[in-house]
Amino acid sequence: MPKRMIETTYTEEDVQIETTLRPQFLKDYVGQEKIKANLQVYIDAAKERGDSLDHALFYGPPGLGKTTLAGIIANEMGVHVKITSGPAIEKPGDLAAILNGLQEGDVLFIDEIHRLPRQVEEVLYPAMEDFAIDILIGKGSGAKSIRLELPKFTLIGATTRAGLLTAPLRDRFGMIHRLEFYSTEELTRIITASAKKLSVAIEPEGAKELARRSRGTPRLANRMLKRVRDFAQIKFDGVITKEAADYALDLMEVDKYGLDASDRRILMTIIEQFNGGPVGLEHLAASLGEDTGTIEDVYEPYLLQNNFLQRTPKGRVATENAYLHFGITRTKD
Ligand SMILES: Nc1ncnc2c1ncn2[C@@H]1O[C@H](COP(=O)(O)OP(=O)(O)O)[C@@H](O)[C@H]1O
Ligand SMILES: [Mg+2]
Repeated sequence: MPKRMIETTYTEEDVQIETTLRPQFLKDYVGQEKIKANLQVYIDAAKERGDSLDHALFYGPPGLGKTTLAGIIANEMGVHVKITSGPAIEKPGDLAAILNGLQEGDVLFIDEIHRLPRQVEEVLYPAMEDFAIDILIGKGSGAKSIRLELPKFTLIGATTRAGLLTAPLRDRFGMIHRLEFYSTEELTRIITASAKKLSVAIEPEGAKELARRSRGTPRLANRMLKRVRDFAQIKFDGVITKEAADYALDLMEVDKYGLDASDRRILMTIIEQFNGGPVGLEHLAASLGEDTGTIEDVYEPYLLQNNFLQRTPKGRVATENAYLHFGITRTKD
């Protein structure tokens, strides 16, 4: 598929915007109220005891604020954060080196934790549980294992695919939270705050329109804000009005529900090639030339949540709502 405006995974462009816009403390983190309330309690309790925070796992679609939470937790606890990812840790020795470099109380953030190699994961178990790792020294019959004590650290894992996590790993997290899509009202607040940080003039109706079309995702909201800013500057006297937002978003082919060309292509494929479904995921993926994991983790959650798509035992089905959205009448087979 072509590169999408609403690509929710991290792109080059985001590195720039996100470092300036990423909230640093819980009070600036909009929405996800249950998670925040929970974290606040755990953080206060850990600080009062002078202890490290329990290990935490965050899961959910890309761009909803998992990495941001890891940074916030470290800031709130007043500790360092070491950021790495599942695929970056290739061997048990790599993990041992990272763990050994941590200081008491530090946060170790492992993104895409479902992609940790199996042998690495096994080193992680005692590290999480007992704050120690066993290292094998030497080879063959002369080999012996020595135990290395680690500082008490907090592991924060993030994944888009909680289903791929092994049970022993999942069980070692004290907190497991699913991030939800954001409401239009929450995204409006995020966009307004971001506009302020970027010194961009935005009208409330402009912010609301951007929010409505951001697919429930702060990463997209910020990215669109940045794009719309450029349009506003050239065509609308530098102010993001509703008109400016509409104009730019229409050009970017993001519709009123935040659906972009790729979303529409998925739904139209189900409707046109499979008469609305049900169609199996593999079959659908092959027709779209996409891999099943990307469809499941990046595209589907929003379509499911907004009732454009249904998962049934027989496969994916385009809903009545999808037909309505495209103005197509369903034909009976
Ligand atoms: N709750 C939030 N409040 C304000 N901004 C947020 C929030 N969640 C995410 N963001 C913004 O969206 C961007 C993407 O979030 P990130 O944590 O990288 O998502 P994830 O790790 O889940 O893919 C961040 O840089 C931040 O600017
Ligand atoms: Mg992330």
